[in-house]
Amino acid sequence: MNNMKKLSLSTFLLTAGMTLSAHAFSADPHPGQALETAANCLKCHASQPYDPSKTKDWPALVKVVQFCNDNLNSGMFEDEVEELADYLNEKHYHYAK
Ligand code: HEC
Repeated sequence: MNNMKKLSLSTFLLTAGMTLSAHAFSADPHPGQALETAANCLKCHASQPYDPSKTKDWPALVKVVQFCNDNLNSGMFEDEVEELADYLNEKHYHYAK
């Protein structure tokens, strides 16, 4: 019985440790940032900054990232477009999803 308790305590600590390291991981650069760099979005958007007044919500943001991606022929997959949109959303747009 006592052993069981010890076991569940260490399971708890292990889980807590994993949660902590997952948290540390999320402090790393957003994966969308690498996509933005790879697609060279800032070639244009450094001089023409992302402007939250030009899109109205999250779906519109994804659409316009898809639009620029298509124009550039950067060949991102749909989930990468969404990853990149998520990065821009966190940094600039702050839309609810
Ligand atoms: C060749 C230049 C160019 C490149 C490179 C480019 N864009 Fe754009 N982007 C534009 C233009 C032009 C518009 C339309 C601007 C407007 O409406 O003011 C636009 C609009 C946008 C918008 C919506 C307008 C806003 O400010 O909210 C977003 C978001 C966006 N681009 C994201 C991206 C992303 C992400 C990439 C990289 C995958 C990218 N763009 C690469 C030219 C570019």
